[in-house]
Amino acid sequence: KIIPVIMAGGKGTRLWPLSRASAPKQFIQFVGDRTLFQSTLSRVSDSELYEAPIIITNEDFRFLAAEQAREMDMALTTILLEPMARNTAAAVAAAAAFVAGRFGEDAILQLLASDHEIVAKQDYFEAITVAAKTAASGKLVTFGITPTEPATGYGYIEIGDKLPGGAHAVKRFVEKPALEKAEAMLASGGYVWNSGIFMFKASQVLEELSRFAPAVSEAATAAVEKASGDLDFIRLDEASFGASPDISIDYALMEKTSNAAVVPSSFVWSDMGSWDAVWKLGNQDEAGNVTSGNATLVNTKNSLVMSRHGHLAVQGLEGVAVIASEDAVYVGRLDESQNVGNIVKQLAAAK
Ligand code: GDD
Ligand code: MG
Repeated sequence: KIIPVIMAGGKGTRLWPLSRASAPKQFIQFVGDRTLFQSTLSRVSDSELYEAPIIITNEDFRFLAAEQAREMDMALTTILLEPMARNTAAAVAAAAAFVAGRFGEDAILQLLASDHEIVAKQDYFEAITVAAKTAASGKLVTFGITPTEPATGYGYIEIGDKLPGGAHAVKRFVEKPALEKAEAMLASGGYVWNSGIFMFKASQVLEELSRFAPAVSEAATAAVEKASGDLDFIRLDEASFGASPDISIDYALMEKTSNAAVVPSSFVWSDMGSWDAVWKLGNQDEAGNVTSGNATLVNTKNSLVMSRHGHLAVQGLEGVAVIASEDAVYVGRLDESQNVGNIVKQLAAAK
């Protein structure tokens, strides 16, 4: 069976002010009646295909993760806690070391980001099956999404030769390119977006991390060896884990390995990464507006207006996001959505 590992320790700063340090976006309901984390859990609930999921998240989010998993009736989850955020390379290394110890070195992991909406029908599970076989052959497998715009918030994968079993080799992996580069890749064709889901053998990812990011893998492996557990949580050792560099798996490993594969995928996938994405995914009315909560719009087009507190009225604007949370309001152009994180940085610096 596949071992699902859900990464749920991100800060989601681009969705401020709904996504907050105390409850980042994966734990929030944007559309529908589940949080993004819960819909991720639902995709790994088939017990014929999957072992009980392993969740890796930050110490600060332990109750959110445990309670939201419980609401899904997934009581058997294992929750690994990071004492401090060290980004996804360290999270992956720790999860892989933990899985290797519990299920053996050859265990196949499916690593899932918890900030996407995915329609998981037959084509999704077909892609998973192809990926599992490819991962068993020793590849680091990614899922490729057909790009629709020169987005700068994703990894780009250049598709190479076909491998036995249906996946393709990865010629090149480019994480978060500058706009001109993204435009060039989109125009040239032959590139897909990295979906944020990966599959590999525990031993394979550990071996390659120790080659390309040894400081990360040493820190994470030691943090697992010296971890302490109680009934609900497994706490990674603080001093060991803290020694890891802060780097994502995409920069630390995927850009460097020559052993990656990609399964070109057609399932419906959207990254809930920014207000722009929430607007695109939302229920647009004739004027192209997406609204939620108590909102009044006059002479307003192609905008996202969400109120979680009080009455919000917008007049004479186009292409904007107006988001009111319990205690903060954000107003910005939708095409600036990728930069909302800068506001959060500025707020943190001012503290
Ligand atoms: N446990 C843990 N610890 N999880 C983390 C941490 C951490 O320090 N940092 C981020 N995560 C989780 C997030 O909650 C999210 O579910 C996932 O890891 C990916 O992190 P993001 O910060 O959302 O990455 P990204 O969106 O900028 O980029 C990644 O996803 C894109 C697709 O959405 C990359 O893999 C890109 O290549 C990819 O295109
Ligand atoms: Mg993301």
